[in-house]
Amino acid sequence: MFERETYVKRRNELKKKVKSGLIILVGNDNIAINYEANEYPFRQDSTFLYYVGIDKPSLIYLLDIDNDKEYLFGEEATLEDVIWMGVKPSLKHYALEVGISRVEPIRNTYKYVEKAVKSDRKIHFLKPYRSYGVILLSELTGKTHNEIIAGNSKELAEAIISMRLIKSPAELHHIKVSASMGHFMHSIAMDMCKPGEKEINIVGAIEAILITQHCRTSFPTILSTKGQILHNHDHGGKLSFGQLMLCDAGAETVSHYASDFTRTTPVGGLYTTKQEEIYNIVLKTINESISLARPDVTYKSIHRNAYRIIFEGLRDLGITKGDTEEALHEGAPALFMPHGLGHALGLDVHDMENLDETLVGYDETTTRDTQFGYKSLRFGRRLEPGHVLTVEPGIYFIPELIDKWYENKICRNFINFKKLEGYKKFGGIRLEDNIVITNEGCRHTHEDRLPITIQEVSELARKSE
Ligand code: GLY
Ligand code: MN
Ligand code: MN
Repeated sequence: MFERETYVKRRNELKKKVKSGLIILVGNDNIAINYEANEYPFRQDSTFLYYVGIDKPSLIYLLDIDNDKEYLFGEEATLEDVIWMGVKPSLKHYALEVGISRVEPIRNTYKYVEKAVKSDRKIHFLKPYRSYGVILLSELTGKTHNEIIAGNSKELAEAIISMRLIKSPAELHHIKVSASMGHFMHSIAMDMCKPGEKEINIVGAIEAILITQHCRTSFPTILSTKGQILHNHDHGGKLSFGQLMLCDAGAETVSHYASDFTRTTPVGGLYTTKQEEIYNIVLKTINESISLARPDVTYKSIHRNAYRIIFEGLRDLGITKGDTEEALHEGAPALFMPHGLGHALGLDVHDMENLDETLVGYDETTTRDTQFGYKSLRFGRRLEPGHVLTVEPGIYFIPELIDKWYENKICRNFINFKKLEGYKKFGGIRLEDNIVITNEGCRHTHEDRLPITIQEVSELARKSE
């Protein structure tokens, strides 16, 4: 949580940007797992956290721009709540901590919004990502569920994006703390990457680090020797010599800032020649991409350049062929990297993706492509100081995709399918770092970079053998 002044300033800026109408920010509720009293750990909505800062369920914030008034709607704890959960500070106390003086029961939200609807005032809300928000906003505004889902206020979303995209020094501090926890998780994973170890034991060990810090993962951990499955959450395998372990994992701090790192480690610490060749292309891609990231350069151009390095690196190995520019135009590198080079990072691991992925990731000078591979680039905009993003190139050999391209003769002039046969059991390699754009260029979110060179990773994986 930040100083009261931070939240007051943010809300004032939001007011100035949106200019008129009524803004409703819906905080998250508790969600039952299998019966009402058994709940998932509570996670507050990130936009609510950013402007209101109160990490408690079932709250609504209302900003009446036209009348220059703001309200927090919620319920004070009942005796029943106290019996089960203990005494907690009042809602009024939490509200004052973030500079909000009007606290009212939820039922008053209905009256307030109803009046605004009747007077035909503009009501701004964000597209909800939980059915709770759809139902609540529908009841408040009288709109149908479909109208609520389609009724995302673009003005509000754009105002929020413009603010949340630029991280303040205080936010960068929290992001650094998250990176530091992420580093610790990955160091443990690399250290445990030994023949005979079970994947689930490594997942357990790295997630335990977070539990002991009152934290959680920023997304479900990806850890597998089947790295070609981009988001593989199956941890049923046992490591054996010669395999690669892809670990994509990150932390969410107590203040809810995320980190998101990937390393691909050889089981037992030694890469085979074939693995080393592919690894070095991915390493070159991440390093060159980071060196290009600076203000005024579009991330879309850096993604395209990443495709260039991957295509040419694989051409040196005889896996791809032909002219680079033509291959890039036809989208040939997407066979090996069907995802984007990175995404914004902040209070969400894919920051603000609920506000509209394209609105977050693109601006008036950049457009999102529709071609396979390029279309998956979540963040293509012109970079600005304060942007925090991931850089996560990869090379994957996905047998089903290779077969489909072969059968449909896709990019046949650029792919040596015969040579590819020998890579169908390879798996995949991804490397992911987190960077912040500075005035001059960029830097890692943590000053110490997680081990990444062949030598560094091998040393860690061979330690305590
Ligand atoms: N951790 C998922 C991703 O890298 O986007
Ligand atoms: Mn990741
Ligand atoms: Mn990522």
